[in-house]
Amino acid sequence: MRDKVVVRLAKRDDAEALGRLYERNLSLFSSDEPSRDASFFTVEGQARALRDALDEYDAGRQWPGVALMDGDVIGKITLHDIRRGPLNMAEVGGWLSADLHNHGVATDALAHLLRIAFGELGLHKIVGYAKVDNIASRKVMEHNGFSLVGTVERHVYDRGRWHDEMLYERLAPWCDGTRPSADG
Ligand SMILES: CC(C)(COP(=O)(O)OP(=O)(O)OC[C@H]1O[C@@H](n2cnc3c(N)ncnc32)[C@H](O)[C@@H]1OP(=O)(O)O)[C@@H](O)C(=O)NCCC(=O)NCCS
Repeated sequence: MRDKVVVRLAKRDDAEALGRLYERNLSLFSSDEPSRDASFFTVEGQARALRDALDEYDAGRQWPGVALMDGDVIGKITLHDIRRGPLNMAEVGGWLSADLHNHGVATDALAHLLRIAFGELGLHKIVGYAKVDNIASRKVMEHNGFSLVGTVERHVYDRGRWHDEMLYERLAPWCDGTRPSADG
């Protein structure tokens, strides 16, 4: 199963597949994703979200990706808050269809995304946050060589309260402490 996972840049045509995927996976978003308006989880909502995400991509601030298996969209994986200049870093976030959980699929999708991040995008560092009890998300980062920076207190507001999150980071494999990017 795992060697079939690929990640590619999202496109506007993915709205239908993503909307259907969200509709089938609504239960995932009751605990681990920040609360959103209900319209977001529909084909129309995804069409709007993709337009916004691709505008951000054009501006160089985001790399909105989808994970695919056998050509089907099975999840979302995005580099957001891309910051160039002396930081040259981004934050990763994503989710995967519940019927595929615990088979290493997200671990492989993140590995593919990191090749893009440190290769064609030339980023220096990727960070990721996970709620303290989101073991699956934390393991996906740990399996991909992220190290734990520490606890960020009251980091995300969700369903009526602030939650602590664990901050992880992963440096580019080519980083020797002197070069700002892969080709720098
Ligand atoms: C986070 C998420 C993408 C992980 O996807 P996945 O394909 O199941 O991840 P993987 O199978 O690659 O790895 C999950 C690991 O966590 C482990 N795991 C999952 N739940 C666990 C639990 N309750 N206790 C201990 N380990 C657990 C799995 O066994 C696996 O570890 P292993 O490979 O060492 O056996 C998926 O759970 C998801 O979409 N969650 C909802 C959205 C979300 O939380 N996104 C991240 C926000 S920061």
